[in-house]
Amino acid sequence: MTENQSPVLVEFDNGIAFVTLNRPEKRNAMNPALNARMLEVLDELEGDERCGVLVLRGAGQSWSAGMDLKEYFRDNDDKPRNATLKARRQSGGWWSRLMYFEKPTIAMVNGWCFGGAFTPLVSCDLAIAAEEANFGLSEINWGILPGGNVTRAVAEVMRHRDALYYIMTGELFGGRKAAEMGLVNEAVPLAELETRVRKICAGLLEKNPVTLKAAKDTYKRVRDLPWDLADDYIYAKLEQMLFLDKTKGRDEGLKQFLDDKTYQPGLGAYKRSR
Ligand code: COA
Repeated sequence: MTENQSPVLVEFDNGIAFVTLNRPEKRNAMNPALNARMLEVLDELEGDERCGVLVLRGAGQSWSAGMDLKEYFRDNDDKPRNATLKARRQSGGWWSRLMYFEKPTIAMVNGWCFGGAFTPLVSCDLAIAAEEANFGLSEINWGILPGGNVTRAVAEVMRHRDALYYIMTGELFGGRKAAEMGLVNEAVPLAELETRVRKICAGLLEKNPVTLKAAKDTYKRVRDLPWDLADDYIYAKLEQMLFLDKTKGRDEGLKQFLDDKTYQPGLGAYKRSR
């Protein structure tokens, strides 16, 4: 298989790793080969210094048409049950890795986004969509409910009424509506999508990476904790972060503001020595 035939492409550009779901002829539907490769790619990128931010995008006119209805579903129907279980583990494996990935992650939704694709979409820290993109919880249209933790993902970010409306009707909605409902951060015209995502990446790349990882994980973990446990977890995470940050970013930030007067933390990041 040549690199271009791989179900997932990786390109690096100035600290950004563009990860492209690459089955445009199948609208980037997620088949077992793509799911297995995504898991490997995430492992490879985790320790790769060229990846400061991961951007997940789709080749062609689609972000992802969801799970592959043939290779993920129907082809497993006549096989022993463990084939289905294996396929589920592979797909679940990569969205859960994405959820707590070492680096910041951005879903750059350039087109169609259906069903199973909602789980990696919500697993990314941020999501920016093209206004022209179309989203749909289409499972109801072909006879199942949103599995692969899609229902959970939707419940995480969408309002109760909106989630049930789209789960039950399977209606399409566009990028602006996705932003209005909180499924994505914002929607911009397709022609401006990459520029907008690159700008967000540039801002994230200025931040201390150890702090970023601790901050996003802490937010995701404490939401389900009672206040006293959350308070304890947050301080534990803060102290772990200070221990892990060999650059001593906190001390440097305080020095640059209090002693050197070279920046104001309310207006931007302290200057990191790379
Ligand atoms: N699984 C498997 N194959 C898929 C697929 C999916 N989820 N989505 C698209 N494809 C395949 C089609 O079968 C077709 O294959 P073929 O060329 O061998 O016939 C090819 O991709 C192109 O699809 P097509 O429907 O012709 O493209 P389109 O641009 O006109 O429409 C969609 C795009 C996404 C609207 C349409 O393909 C679709 O409804 N896909 C299913 C979406 C879905 O319900 N996903 C939920 C899965 S949980």
